[in-house]
Amino acid sequence: MKILLLGSGGREHALAWKMAQSSKVGQLYIAPGNAGTASVGTNVDLRANDFAGIKDFVLKNGVEMVVVGPEDPLVAGIYDYFRDDESLAAIPVIGPSREGAQLEGSKDFAKAFMMRHGIPTARYRSITAEELAAGEAFLETLSPPYVLKADGLAAGKGVLIVNSLDDARKELRQMLEGMFGEASRTVVIEEFLDGIECSVFVLTDGNDYKILPVAKDYKRIGEGNTGLNTGGMGAVSPVPFADAAFMQKVEECIIRPTVDGLRAEGIDYKGFIFLGLINVKGEPMVIEYNCRMGDPETEVVMLRIKSDLVELLEGVAQGRLATCELIEDERAAVTVMLVSGGYPEAYEKGKVISGLEAIDTPDRIVFHAGTTRKDGTIVTSGGRVVAVSSYGDTKEEALKKSFAGAEAIGFEKKYYRRDIGFDL
Ligand code: AMP
Ligand code: GLY
Repeated sequence: MKILLLGSGGREHALAWKMAQSSKVGQLYIAPGNAGTASVGTNVDLRANDFAGIKDFVLKNGVEMVVVGPEDPLVAGIYDYFRDDESLAAIPVIGPSREGAQLEGSKDFAKAFMMRHGIPTARYRSITAEELAAGEAFLETLSPPYVLKADGLAAGKGVLIVNSLDDARKELRQMLEGMFGEASRTVVIEEFLDGIECSVFVLTDGNDYKILPVAKDYKRIGEGNTGLNTGGMGAVSPVPFADAAFMQKVEECIIRPTVDGLRAEGIDYKGFIFLGLINVKGEPMVIEYNCRMGDPETEVVMLRIKSDLVELLEGVAQGRLATCELIEDERAAVTVMLVSGGYPEAYEKGKVISGLEAIDTPDRIVFHAGTTRKDGTIVTSGGRVVAVSSYGDTKEEALKKSFAGAEAIGFEKKYYRRDIGFDL
C-alpha cells in the first residue's frame, strides 16, 4: 500500500517509524517530513495545509491512504475535502471530519459536547465581548486560580491560569479584545481542577474503538514543572496511576460516551481522539480533547504498540476496527526532548547536530522533531529538535538510556529536562 503521512514533527517521525515496520506498506511518503522521516520513507515538499497540492500528489502517485498528524489540516477540513471530491472520495483519510475536529478546534464546542453527553469536565461558561458582565459575574462564583481559554486554536498558547480575581477580569477583557486574534473572540472560563494529568489516546472507526497505551507528558520548560509552557519536553508510558480501576472509569464515563455521542450526532470521526485527562481524587475528568495524537506522547505510545499499526488504520478506514487486535508491549517507554537554548522563546536554528548515528539501538530510537538536512549534514530547524526514546523493563531503566543518549548528542545550546518521570 502507498501511504501519505502529513506533518513534520517528532510525532510524525514516530508514526512513520511504526508504519514503516508494516509488511503492508510499499511506499511511505511524508509531507513535508524532516531529516528523521527521510530515513524511514520519502519526504515530499508539500505543506500539510496545501489541499490542492496534496490532491495532485495523491492522484499522480497512487496514494491509497492519507494519515494526518497535526490538527490544522483536520480543523480546516481535509477529511471533507477528500470525501466531497469525486476523484479522492475512495481514498481514506485517517482523521475526523471538520465537524469532529471541532472537539479540538473550538473549546466551546467541546464543552457543550461534554455537557450534552454527561462527560465529566470542569464547570464552565463561554463568553463573548457582549457578555463581559456575565463573564465577570461567573468569575466571582469561582475560587482562585482562574482558568481562561481562548475558544479557537492558538498554537498551544491559548490557556491562561491566573491567581487573582482582578487579573482574571483584566485578562478576560484582553482576550475578548483579541489577545489571541479571532481565537479568543469567545473565551471559555473554567473552574480550576487540581490533580495529576495524563493523556489517553483512542483510535476509532466511528463505531468501535481501541484504547492505546496511556502516556504522561511534561509541558513546562523547567525542571520540577516550572517556567513557560512548551510543546512538550518528554513523556513516559505506562502511567502508574492510570491503573485498571481508573481506566475502567475512563472507558465508561468518557471514552464510550464520546464515541457514542459523536455517532449519535452524525459526526464522521475515523481517527485518533486525544483525551487530556486529570485525575481528581481518583475520578478522571476531561481537561481537553484533541483530534490527533499528542507530541511527544506519540514518541512513547508507538514504542508500546506491538501490533501492526497499518492493519489497525485499515480497520479504521474500512469500519471493521472490532476485528483488529491491539497488543501492547509490556515494557516501559520514555522520551526526552532535546531543545534549542532559549526555547520556547527566541532561539537560533541551523546548528549542526553530532552524535546521532551512535545513538540508535534496538531499544533506543531518536525521533527527529525540528531537524533538516543542509549540505549533507543534519542541522536544527526548530525549538524542539530530537526526542530520545527508549525501552526499559522499568521506567528508570528506560530513562537511564534516554539520558545517556541525550548526553551523547551534541548541538550548540542544547537543553533538556533531567527530571522526566520524576513525579510518578
Ligand atoms: P490545554 O491547552 O487545554 O491543554 O490547557 C493547557 C494546560 O492548562 C493543561 O494541560 C492543564 O495543565 C492546564 N489546564 C487547563 N484547564 C485546566 C483546568 N480546568 N484546571 C486545571 N488546569 C487546567
Ligand atoms: N503533548 C500535548 C499535545 O500534543 O498537545
